[in-house]
Amino acid sequence: MLVTGGGMAHGMRPRCDDVADEADQRVEQTLKVLAHEIRQPLAAIFALAEAARTRPDVPAEVQSQLARIIEQTQELTEVTRSVVDPQACADPQRLGEVDADEVVESVLDAFALTWTGTLDRSGHCGELPVVGHRAALRRCLVNVLDNAVRAAGPAGRVVVTTRRTPATVKVLVEDDGPGFGKVPGRTGLGLEITRQVLADMGGELVVGLPGRGGGGSVALVLRAAAAELRRADRPVRVV
Ligand SMILES: Nc1ncnc2c1ncn2[C@@H]1O[C@H](COP(=O)(O)OP(=O)(O)OP(=O)(O)O)[C@@H](O)[C@H]1O
Ligand SMILES: [Mg+2]
Repeated sequence: MLVTGGGMAHGMRPRCDDVADEADQRVEQTLKVLAHEIRQPLAAIFALAEAARTRPDVPAEVQSQLARIIEQTQELTEVTRSVVDPQACADPQRLGEVDADEVVESVLDAFALTWTGTLDRSGHCGELPVVGHRAALRRCLVNVLDNAVRAAGPAGRVVVTTRRTPATVKVLVEDDGPGFGKVPGRTGLGLEITRQVLADMGGELVVGLPGRGGGGSVALVLRAAAAELRRADRPVRVV
């Protein structure tokens, strides 16, 4: 609890910075405990799914569903790691090259499992190397897609378009919902986290663009990785 008066000598009052640091440390500690506690159940899910997947009598369709459970468990492990160790995503020394195309496909794949609307992809197809951290970029895209599918509703449409310029890769998420800011809020964390995580990777979040679907439109602007810069003079295939 913050102590602000009650006869305490001025010099003994905790400074705002100290209080904020203490709160940060408490949150960090809670996150570490959470990550620690879910590690074993996650490992158990992974082991069970793997054991079932490799049984000889399992039909091919069930095998492929089990493979996807394993994949999603791995994504959850990675996302937990990226939340608990944000420095790993923010430290320029530890930023690597990530294929934005693969991340977009992986997120669309996951939403197709849980959302009943129409999910489309357009623009550049193929490798899109950007500067970043895979789990962090995936979290950003999940947050933006999460808003878009909620805005579009169970029978709506969301289109993800990827475009590149010599220096950037843009991932545009458009929906046919009521428009930005016109859906009821929840915890209000998603875009704030996304903005911060993207900034740590040298990228940017752009909201409030005119959407082609008549609804919300949000763009993730990412820094093209060096390999992408070398290849940027090649023609871009637009589908
Ligand atoms: N595609 C969209 N269409 C309409 N409104 C949007 C869209 N994306 C974001 N918003 C608006 O921005 C607000 C903030 O989004 P944000 O993701 O930060 O929080 P949230 O979705 O309310 O909660 P959380 O992400 O923490 O579950 C949303 O509540 C919504 O009003
Ligand atoms: Mg949200």
